[in-house]
Amino acid sequence: MSYPPLSGLPINSDTLSELQKNLSGLNPLQTAWLSGYLWARSQQMDAPAAVGAGAAAAPGAPEQASPVLILSASQTGNARRVAQSLQDKLKAAGVASVLKNAGDYKSRQLASERLVLIVASTQGDGEPPEEALTLHKSLFGKKPPEVKSLQFAVLGLGDSSYPDFCQAGKDFDSRLEQLGAQRLFERVDCDLDYQATADQWVEKTVAWLVEHESRNTAATSAPASVSALVNEPQVHAQIYTREKPFTATILTNQKITSRDSLKDVRHLEFDLGDSGIRYQPGDALGVWFRNDPALADSILSSTGVDGAANVTLADGKTLGVRYALIHHLEITQNTPAFVKGYAQITQDPDLLELVANTKALQDYIADTPIDVVLRRVPQVLTAQQLCDLLRPLTPRLYSIASAQEEVGDEVHITVALVEYEQDTIQYQGGASGYLNRRLEAGDEVDIFIEPSAHFRLPQDTQTPIIMIGAGTGIAPFRAFMQKRDAEDQEGANWLIFGNQSFKDDFLYQLEWQQLAKSERLSRYSFAWSRDQQEKIYVQHKLLQEGTQLWQWLQKGAHLYVCGDASRMAKDVEAALLEVIASEGGLSVDDADAYLDELRESHRYQRDVY
Ligand SMILES: Cc1cc2nc3c(=O)[nH]c(=O)nc-3n(C[C@H](O)[C@H](O)[C@H](O)COP(=O)(O)OP(=O)(O)OC[C@H]3O[C@@H](n4cnc5c(N)ncnc54)[C@H](O)[C@@H]3O)c2cc1C
Ligand SMILES: NC(=O)c1ccc[n+]([C@@H]2O[C@H](COP(=O)([O-])OP(=O)(O)OC[C@H]3O[C@@H](n4cnc5c(N)ncnc54)[C@H](OP(=O)(O)O)[C@@H]3O)[C@@H](O)[C@H]2O)c1
Ligand SMILES: Cc1cc2nc3c(=O)[nH]c(=O)nc-3n(C[C@H](O)[C@H](O)[C@H](O)COP(=O)(O)O)c2cc1C
Repeated sequence: MSYPPLSGLPINSDTLSELQKNLSGLNPLQTAWLSGYLWARSQQMDAPAAVGAGAAAAPGAPEQASPVLILSASQTGNARRVAQSLQDKLKAAGVASVLKNAGDYKSRQLASERLVLIVASTQGDGEPPEEALTLHKSLFGKKPPEVKSLQFAVLGLGDSSYPDFCQAGKDFDSRLEQLGAQRLFERVDCDLDYQATADQWVEKTVAWLVEHESRNTAATSAPASVSALVNEPQVHAQIYTREKPFTATILTNQKITSRDSLKDVRHLEFDLGDSGIRYQPGDALGVWFRNDPALADSILSSTGVDGAANVTLADGKTLGVRYALIHHLEITQNTPAFVKGYAQITQDPDLLELVANTKALQDYIADTPIDVVLRRVPQVLTAQQLCDLLRPLTPRLYSIASAQEEVGDEVHITVALVEYEQDTIQYQGGASGYLNRRLEAGDEVDIFIEPSAHFRLPQDTQTPIIMIGAGTGIAPFRAFMQKRDAEDQEGANWLIFGNQSFKDDFLYQLEWQQLAKSERLSRYSFAWSRDQQEKIYVQHKLLQEGTQLWQWLQKGAHLYVCGDASRMAKDVEAALLEVIASEGGLSVDDADAYLDELRESHRYQRDVY
């Protein structure tokens, strides 16, 4: 390996040659890990210099104001990336800032902040991301923090096909104003293709702060910059990213539900080769999928578009339209924008009436795929018209089902096929159809790691854990157990798992039986919803075993919930509150406060989608 000439390097030649000697024996993975380690370390070394609110000024030094606070409220990484880029640009512009993950920030501290910039995505049905739930609840609670002297600005990230577009950002923005804080500028809401809008907001915010913060920040001192988001070495994030994914080879693609099951759930293993990619149990795998060519052809046929015609995409690329439909555009998720645009072009009276009614439009897109819209109201379009109606393809995320302590340079996921029938045609989800039905061992897929700092095993290996999951919600618990088993961790483990049928849908049955036999799995409870006449779900098991659950919580157990967000996670939370109230002899409000406390201390973590 050759090194650049020494002039301009911040270390002397002796130190450099010593480093070269030590580095020569490292493999690519070790080198990559070290780069992340050193980077994180360099950030921590900045910390003592921070002009944090509590930092004592040296005698005689001019008094410095507290740094700008950036709060990142993200579930799948987009808001986190924007917040990180905001901090990087502020740092380059000489404005001191502190970047915090909302989950690691105590809302009471807002009272002593001067200026906060919130970058928040929206999840669930208009809810804040998991890591910002406590902050949100505290702001909307009976005793919100005192924020009258706070200045703020909010960037919302969302998806305009949801009825509550950017609701979490809107909530933070309106509530802070209501509580007396001063808005610096109007909130900006970003749709799924957030990058350009977010970049503009970042630029505008940095420019404003450069102009106004020069009075508050010592221009001569190096800007302090502390990032709470770098407390884990993010080596993988530096090598392969969402924008620069790794092309992995599929090692295994195996159906793990029975022939009689109503679900097609697959276990997929990918070879990470010598990519150096590292991940932790709790992280998700991002998959850049390709759309079904047959669906692309059906869309071309309904619109009379020649697949070879060229189109220019939003990012300026010019491509053949068929290629663009398969590789670059969403064709499996319908959106209000698509139906509105198509209604305008066709002037179809039914579609025009539909788009005038927001609720009816939402219901319509929930069960009418784009292909069905085009088949029902066929219309000749130009290739460009067709593409302009569609939004850019976004990768899908899958909870990682393996631990590297067990599987080394592999990553495993558990994928349920989304499949439904409309107008007698069978449709599949874009990514789950690609992974479960169109790929096999030996094929290649573009992937990346999406870290989930909000879903982590306890640091103390003795701490008991309770894992509650339904369906594919089992995935991260397989990863948790692989790690705890490989490292012979002593903490007790309780799995509470639900799926339709014991015989057909017991995902990873043999592995769980083995773990139970070896007593690594200390306790297990199963809810087979369709093995009897009445439904039995995981929350029924929680209620049945409330006394045990309470005892585990008293022993410091961490609670994890994974799987469906819209129904299961809500019902599980209601059951947890019921157990806490009845077993702990607490009022409804006190049980609620108890669960909040668990959440705030990272003992109640959810990975729900
Ligand atoms: C952090 C995270 C972790 C996740 N982990 C997992 C995991 O471990 N395993 C897993 O399987 N999934 C997981 N998911 C979900 C996964 O990311 C995808 O959302 C899922 O696989 C569906 O994507 P798709 O591309 O196959 O379907 P899409 O192409 O997105 O299709 C879904 C669309 O199909 C339409 N549709 C669905 N049903 C019907 C119907 N009956 N009638 C008409 N239209 C319908 C709807 O418009 C819906 O938007 C996770 C998600 C997140 C955010
Ligand atoms: N939002 C939705 O409407 C919806 C629906 C299905 C799947 N999904 C998504 O599809 C993906 C994979 O799903 P999956 O097939 O692995 O699992 P799943 O559809 O979530 O089902 C897993 C188990 O959960 C049960 N279940 C249903 N409602 C429940 C509730 N309110 N509380 C607790 N358990 C409940 C199911 O029972 P029964 O099937 O017998 O009712 C089944 O036994 C996930 O992304 C999931 O979020 C979403
Ligand atoms: C399960 C799920 C639910 C979502 N619900 C909403 C919603 O109600 N409103 C909205 O505007 N966006 C919603 N979104 C879109 C996200 O806000 C959007 O993808 C955003 O870019 C994610 O940012 P993040 O990666 O920082 O979490 C949802 C996304 C997912 C995966």
